[in-house]
Amino acid sequence: HRHLLGIEGLSAQDIQTLLDHSDRYVDLNRAVEKKQSSLRGRTIINLFFENSTRTRTSFELAGKRLGGDVINMSVATSSVKKGETLIDTAITLNAMHPDLLVVRHQDSGAVALLAQKVGCSVINGGDGSHEHPTQALLDALTIRRRKGRLEGLSVAICGDILHSRVARSNIHLLNTMGARVRLIAPPTLLPAFAERLGVEVYHDMRKGLTDVDIVMMLRLQMERFHGSFVPSTREYFHFYGLDHEKLAFAKPDALIMHPGPMNRGIEIDTEVADDIHRSVIHEQVEMGVAVRMACLELLAQHKPNWRHSTPAGA
Ligand code: CP
Repeated sequence: HRHLLGIEGLSAQDIQTLLDHSDRYVDLNRAVEKKQSSLRGRTIINLFFENSTRTRTSFELAGKRLGGDVINMSVATSSVKKGETLIDTAITLNAMHPDLLVVRHQDSGAVALLAQKVGCSVINGGDGSHEHPTQALLDALTIRRRKGRLEGLSVAICGDILHSRVARSNIHLLNTMGARVRLIAPPTLLPAFAERLGVEVYHDMRKGLTDVDIVMMLRLQMERFHGSFVPSTREYFHFYGLDHEKLAFAKPDALIMHPGPMNRGIEIDTEVADDIHRSVIHEQVEMGVAVRMACLELLAQHKPNWRHSTPAGA
């Protein structure tokens, strides 16, 4: 693969290779001396059209720990604000001969479109409600290290599925790796195609959480409602917020996950989020650096063809 645009289309072997490669970086990241040299001389540009704390920072750390040169292009202070289009911006950056572009964009499909226009490898750092592949990989690495496997586990993904690229990438990955996926959400926050994804659908948290191994909570993405009905956050927490009472339906050793950023008191009770035995939310962030090192390193094996860049109108 030249790009990493989504989990859909990756084989179980591809995913296993990425996870095995990531695993090797976990110990390195815990060491005092972290610097490696496999990306020496390579240039990585982070191009984030949407806000990010975890993804942008961990891609920057990942690139630097592998010895690469990392540029963070700040969209807020760029010529995007003067009206330059996504594609013109990409072609401009491509002319500076980067080896990898990491792109986050608010529109589903925007990163794949951009990837067709540049000669270097592109990693999707999240596009609209479509995919966030490195998030699903870091979630899988977290689960695999804690539970020793993915196959046969029962995973509940709960909350605002409709707007969630994290949910989509996780559904593809978990299905491919042989886990059983349950979606728990109000009918208004489930995409119409949910039933076709090979998952079980629940509208009741207590029923859906019964005997699951993993509880994956999602942020209620208020900014993506665009004028449609916004639920009352108090009512949402009452029915769909993860608290100790609802969590008691899951297996006693179930892991609590959240991709972040969290809305404490809306989709997750603060005590559950901070449960020192079962919450792995900070471990997910830690795994994020290792996964992004693996993705950068594997994609950097492709030789870029910067002349490939095609005109914006083409
Ligand atoms: N989980 C995640 O993508 O977080 P950021 O939006 O902070 O990158």
